[in-house]
This record gives sequence, C-alpha cells and structure tokens, in this order.
Amino acid sequence: MATVDNKHILVIHGPNLNFLGKREPETYGRTTLADIDSGLEKLGFEMGLAVETFQSNHEGAIVDKLQEAVGRMDGIIINPAAYTHTSVAIRDALLLLDLPVIEVHLSNVKKREPFRHQSLVSDVVTGTIMGLGAMGYELALRSISAQLK
Ligand code: DQA
Repeated sequence: MATVDNKHILVIHGPNLNFLGKREPETYGRTTLADIDSGLEKLGFEMGLAVETFQSNHEGAIVDKLQEAVGRMDGIIINPAAYTHTSVAIRDALLLLDLPVIEVHLSNVKKREPFRHQSLVSDVVTGTIMGLGAMGYELALRSISAQLK
C-alpha cells in the first residue's frame, strides 16, 4: 500500500517511444507507452513504490530529468532508445546518480544492426534487460523493489 514514505522510482523513455504500439510493431510489440506506464504505476503501488514516468524526444530534456532526480529519486528505469548508442551526455548524467538504475530495451539490440550493439550506458547502470518486450519494464521495477529492501 502506498504511503508518504514511499520510495520514488523514475521511468524515462527516450525518443520515438511515444509511438509504441504503432511503431514497427513486429519489433517493439503492440503495447502502447500509456499501457506500459499505467502498468508500472499500478505495480509500483502494489509494491509501495511511487512511480513517475517521463518521455522525451530530446537528449537535453532527458539529461535535465536525470539531474532533477539527484537526491529525489530512489531508483531509475531508463530506455534511452536511439540515444543508447550515441549519448555521452546521458551516460554522464547517469554517473551523477548513486542508486539502482536499470536499462531496458524492448528489442534484443544484440540481434539487430551492428550500430545498435554498442550501448554507451550499459557499463554505468546496475543492470540491463533486453528483448523481453514490455515485460522488461515490469521485471526492472521488481528488481529495483528487491534492491531497495
Ligand atoms: C530500443 C532499441 C534502440 O536501438 C532503438 O533506437 C529504440 C528502442 C528498444 O527498446 O528496443 O528506439 O531502445
């Protein structure tokens, strides 16, 4: 049951993930971002975690959100989407945070084009879940809950 003492979890979705459900469904599935977010909020409530969700197509906005999380949040779930493969800025912002951070990818990026094989964030996060579709977010939240106990 949620209380004022809840731990706070921030979920960040990067560019084009606002089109989930319509975007390349054979790769990313038919679950919408709204479905993912409401599922996480519900699961968080059941586990006593307050879940805040955020999506942006802009690298700097994601950096701003990570900076705001310093000292406020207890855990982060992030799918940096295309910025996974390019963003030193998001990597550096993640290094500001001393808390559990799970990187999630809906698709198995290792099975896709070579430019998706490199993640600039994998070696600065607690763990990475990929290739399990929308369920990856739920598993990430369960993992953070366990780590915070
Ligand atoms: C993604 C994989 C990225 O390579 C891609 O740019 C995305 C989504 C995933 O969730 O599988 O936008 O992060």
